[in-house]
Amino acid sequence: MMVCSWRKSRVSERRHLLGLAHVSAEDLVLLLDTAESLMEVSERDVKKLPTLRGKTVINLFMENSTRTRISFEIAAKRLSADSINISASSSSMSKGETLADTARNLAAMSPDAIVVRHPAAGAARLLADIVDCSIVNAGDGWHEHPTQALLDILTIRQHKGALSGLVVTIVGDILHSRVARSNIYGLKTLGARVRLSGPPTLLPPEFAELGVEIFYDLAEAVAESDVVMMLRIQRERQGQNYFPSLDEYAHYYCLTEEILAEAKPDVIILHPGPMNRGIEISSGVADGPYSVMMNQVSNGVAMRMAVLYQLIVPGADGIRGSELAQPVSHPLLRAGGEG
Ligand code: MLT
Repeated sequence: MMVCSWRKSRVSERRHLLGLAHVSAEDLVLLLDTAESLMEVSERDVKKLPTLRGKTVINLFMENSTRTRISFEIAAKRLSADSINISASSSSMSKGETLADTARNLAAMSPDAIVVRHPAAGAARLLADIVDCSIVNAGDGWHEHPTQALLDILTIRQHKGALSGLVVTIVGDILHSRVARSNIYGLKTLGARVRLSGPPTLLPPEFAELGVEIFYDLAEAVAESDVVMMLRIQRERQGQNYFPSLDEYAHYYCLTEEILAEAKPDVIILHPGPMNRGIEISSGVADGPYSVMMNQVSNGVAMRMAVLYQLIVPGADGIRGSELAQPVSHPLLRAGGEG
């Protein structure tokens, strides 16, 4: 697997968020705390801070997305950055240009950050190595989706307090899931106990090497869980049939109210979206009292504001000199954001 993380690029001192695999607990907490302090901006009448005024953020989305693209766009606008969206069909890549050439051309127009989503694992890392601006990975193939995991962890922390010792169960198409990988890294770094569940074809035993527990029986996996995170079957990332039919998959791995009864009484249910009702999750659970999915979506904006802020605003002065009232007083805040 490619090593991607919160790192400095070879081309400059620019900071990037490429994955959570090597991000320290301290940096994760810095990002979570920054996001927490930015949440109230979205509740204001005038939802804007001048923090990134004069900065330019390009959202380069080479794969479909609703939540992530809109969330990054809103985040950039709430911090007063100029944001520009480019999709696969509107870019010269539809005329045969390579990702690297597209990125070099975009970089020549001096953006401060490029947020990239791409079907190939390693695409964000490639850009970080060749362009001179901050790169944020918004999902690269099966590899990582760090801001999704950060917003998931923020949502868990909001409901449960400390992450340490919590039993977090991730269920579904683990093999093709960048959300699962980023969550495993981030949750483990913060001390959570991670369980994985899914059919053996979508959950190879090698995942145990990441220090997680593997369950092929959903009820056993969910038993005594504090958090259950359901994942979609990612057919567009699958090159073959991994199970006989969706009905059969749903029979064994759909989270229903009956199975949920095995979890802790105050369990919370997460799903990164888009969800397929009746396949990985029943409507009763999706719309029920334990679901925190809409909190995830709201928290996504604050989390992406925090990431853009930490990448683009240089060093501790960026925190101290800014108009952000709360983070400065937090003892865990420190200079920079790179690990
Ligand atoms: C992703 O981009 O990986 C999504 O947020 C989750 C999914 O597509 O199922």
